[in-house]
Amino acid sequence: MWVEGISSSGWRSHVYAMGHLATSSPTNPIRPALTMPIGENATNSLRSRGRPRRNTMSVRAASDTLRKGIAEFYDESSGIWEDIWGDHMHHGFYDPASDVSISDHRAAQIRMIDQSLAFASLPDESKQKPKSIVDVGCGIGGSSRYLARKFGAKCQGITLSPVQAQRAQQLADAQGLNGQVSFEVADALNQPFPDAQFDLVWSMESGEHMPEKKKFVNELVRVAAPGGTIIIVTWCHRDLSPSEESLRPEEKDLLDRICRAFYLPEWCSTADYVSLLRSISMEDVKSADWSDHVAPFWPAVIKSALTWKGITSLLTSGWKTIWGALVMPLMIQGYNKGLIKFAIITCRKPNRP
Ligand SMILES: C[S@@+](CC[C@H](N)C(=O)[O-])C[C@H]1O[C@@H](n2cnc3c(N)ncnc32)[C@H](O)[C@@H]1O
Repeated sequence: MWVEGISSSGWRSHVYAMGHLATSSPTNPIRPALTMPIGENATNSLRSRGRPRRNTMSVRAASDTLRKGIAEFYDESSGIWEDIWGDHMHHGFYDPASDVSISDHRAAQIRMIDQSLAFASLPDESKQKPKSIVDVGCGIGGSSRYLARKFGAKCQGITLSPVQAQRAQQLADAQGLNGQVSFEVADALNQPFPDAQFDLVWSMESGEHMPEKKKFVNELVRVAAPGGTIIIVTWCHRDLSPSEESLRPEEKDLLDRICRAFYLPEWCSTADYVSLLRSISMEDVKSADWSDHVAPFWPAVIKSALTWKGITSLLTSGWKTIWGALVMPLMIQGYNKGLIKFAIITCRKPNRP
């Protein structure tokens, strides 16, 4: 089964990779043709629409290009993010009914982790504390260190960005977590771990970067120990209605523009994730739309970028970071239109083999 891509003749979707990065630009991005195999159990919005098949070489080349783009994007932008926002590179979780003060944002990012654990029935007082954790798409390791400390667990983080992996380890060592928390550059779609290793498989805002959602989900499940918990917190597009084959053209267009700046391939819906997990017999599959809970986040990020410190940091960073900043208002648009959903999806790997 194949996902549609962008051909030289111009038919479009939000599935693509950033090609020829050195020569592309925000106004004239070069987008190579790309199709992605996604496997047999993919659901509606992931289904091919009778497009011509492309060979696996072009898929591989596109995936390589995307991985390179993601690595470079985070190599370039992680320092400035850390400078302004600290070591968590994810949305905060807010009470939609209350006013939010700027000082609350970092606390809200920690709240996001705690709320995610609670949603997956792994709260502080849980008797079944995970002893081994993998942080898939770990950034500079904010979640890894927090989870390792909270549960007294060992945690291994993987990221595509060498700069992030190095910084994550530096912070862990400085905080006395050497030996308990470790980081390496590795691909979430080909994780360097044996099967059934981890009591908690954690993916906080990395799923949106994954070009093959089925492979991504399969890898999360493969490395989870029997009875282990999988938590995916990620950006999704809205669920399609039964009568819809795909998103509307203007919706695809908006996502395209976001994808180009943030190195994202195909989006899927929350229902797609749920369906993928159910199709491989995961237990207690649950999901929720937390879009309202993250609403104050992007306005706050934009505000911080417009401070003197934000502007000077941006100007000294590369164009990928600047472009990312310029596209931030589109995220707010996407949320306001109900197109972008901030989703949590959790499940448990069965104990039986
Ligand atoms: C928005 S950051 C989130 C970082 C971290 N989870 C956090 O909450 O602070 C996205 C992360 O996903 C990682 N990532 C994206 N695609 C990946 C892949 N195929 N394999 C491993 N990591 C990936 C990036 O390198 C980056 O660290």
